[in-house]
Amino acid sequence: MNLIQALNTGYNLLKSSKINSYKIDTEILLSASLKISKEKMILNLNKEISFEDYENFLTKIKRRKANEPIAYILKKKEFWKNNFYLNKHILVPRPETELLVEESLDIIAPIQKKKLLEIGVGSGCIIISILKERINCSAVGIDCCRNAVKIAKINANLHQINNRIKIFKSYVDNFSTGKYDLIISNPPYIDKFQLKYLSVSEHEPFKALNGGINGTEMLEKVIIKSSQLLKINGKLVIEIGSNQKYKVSEILKKNKFYINKIIKDLSSNDRCIVSTKLL
Ligand SMILES: C[S@@+](CC[C@H](N)C(=O)[O-])C[C@H]1O[C@@H](n2cnc3c(N)ncnc32)[C@H](O)[C@@H]1O
Repeated sequence: MNLIQALNTGYNLLKSSKINSYKIDTEILLSASLKISKEKMILNLNKEISFEDYENFLTKIKRRKANEPIAYILKKKEFWKNNFYLNKHILVPRPETELLVEESLDIIAPIQKKKLLEIGVGSGCIIISILKERINCSAVGIDCCRNAVKIAKINANLHQINNRIKIFKSYVDNFSTGKYDLIISNPPYIDKFQLKYLSVSEHEPFKALNGGINGTEMLEKVIIKSSQLLKINGKLVIEIGSNQKYKVSEILKKNKFYINKIIKDLSSNDRCIVSTKLL
């Protein structure tokens, strides 16, 4: 069997399971099974595939057929400018979350020395991306999930910023150490009643998505905690659900935050709020 035949088998298997991205997914999974780049694979389509590589490819295709995200199958995801290691206990980083990195980099000038906190680090993709570009900054990351703490530490090591970050297992309510110039958070913000109808929840961790009633329970906790841990004039950068702008703005104002801006993602959904702690 050659690579074209393997690709066609993959296309057909994923298409029959109604995977819309069947073409690109098959190509990614085949190049990963062959351990070569997609470009090299395309240039060698008539080459034979070994039995082991084909078996490995079919195993990955079967997992994708069951709707498992590619990131879990490959145990990595590209975010901002880097690859992050992850597993099924961690939320797959989303492209829209890169807005939080962009806004944070806008707030901190390249040579500034600032203290940062991320609440709910998951894979560590946000805080590590920021620290890699702001070499004088240091950070603390917390997450209530033991696996997330483990993976974020692995990623901090991989990206060689482990001397500038401390990562702790903690619930947001229980954390009260330090004062920060900037707090960043992409908390779970999906309404718990809607969560069961979303296909994402099938494979991704419940704790990373469940925002409680209305989806704003964890956002409120993050805002209250940030009002205690931010220095005066410190900034809070948070991700929100597309229908949460008014509710979250109210919570921010109630907790003495000034709203600097609300940013839309590439699909024109309100996605990120930048605010300043006034008192
Ligand atoms: C939406 S995920 C974000 C992960 C990562 N920051 C990202 O953007 O890809 C939310 C994270 O918050 C953590 N989390 C949920 N509830 C928490 C709580 N009460 N205290 C601390 N972390 C919490 C979850 O374990 C999860 O890793």
